[in-house]
Amino acid sequence: MNILIMGGPGAGKGTVSSKIVNQFKILHISTGDIFRSEISLQTELGLTAKKYIDQGLLVPDEVTNAMVKSFLEKQDISNGYLLDGYPRTLAQAEAFDKLVKGTDLEIDKVVALEIPFDVLSSRITGRRLCKSCGAIYHITYSPSKKEADCEKCDGVLYQRKDDTLESLEVRLEEYSKNANPILTYYSSKGLVSTVDANQSLETVWKETLIVLGENK
Ligand code: AP5
Ligand code: MG
Repeated sequence: MNILIMGGPGAGKGTVSSKIVNQFKILHISTGDIFRSEISLQTELGLTAKKYIDQGLLVPDEVTNAMVKSFLEKQDISNGYLLDGYPRTLAQAEAFDKLVKGTDLEIDKVVALEIPFDVLSSRITGRRLCKSCGAIYHITYSPSKKEADCEKCDGVLYQRKDDTLESLEVRLEEYSKNANPILTYYSSKGLVSTVDANQSLETVWKETLIVLGENK
């Protein structure tokens, strides 16, 4: 199965994605994670992306589309994939569809996480991530049992550089501008299911499984 997960900054895309890829044994493709990895490796792509990401702005479409294309060419995606954070402009959606049209890489399902913007600031400012394995925590909603270390691998927890209220405001603006055209585009293909993401993680997960056809 090929899935796209959408939602505003902090809606829970990464959190739900790690459960989906575990459940369906498919490849997780997070453009945000790829950019952050390129930044830490100080590649040319990373240096370009950093200028935008630190401010909360979207990386230009041509840079992002080229990165996704080259990533797909290097990966084994025969079992399916989960796109997290891409496409996030209509131009990206159209470019991706053109790339995969007529292959078994076409998107089968879009999961749209819906959440009121006013709850996102606490999710974003309280988020902590593991430097080693990428596990996602929240100091209040989902704390690590090992406090400042990752309970899964003992890695150090850190805060993303763009997890500030200032950057969140810009990210929300970008999302507001771009999400509806994409949702309309995929809705016209009958692919979109929405999930109320302003609920406990257990409930969000249960509802996600239902829209993905796993009635557990
Ligand atoms: P990206 O990394 O995709 O960031 P984002 O879209 O802002 O989303 P986040 O990762 O912040 O949130 P999330 O929805 O994954 O939430 P999470 O599960 O972590 O992109 C970063 C930047 O890269 C962009 O701003 C842009 O510059 C660039 N970029 C990336 N893709 C691009 C593209 N396609 N085109 C151009 N530029 C691109 O959860 C958040 C917190 O909430 C966590 O602490 C978690 O524990 C907690 N939480 C989750 N679910 C729940 C729940 N149900 N209840 C309580 N707490 C919860
Ligand atoms: Mg994420």
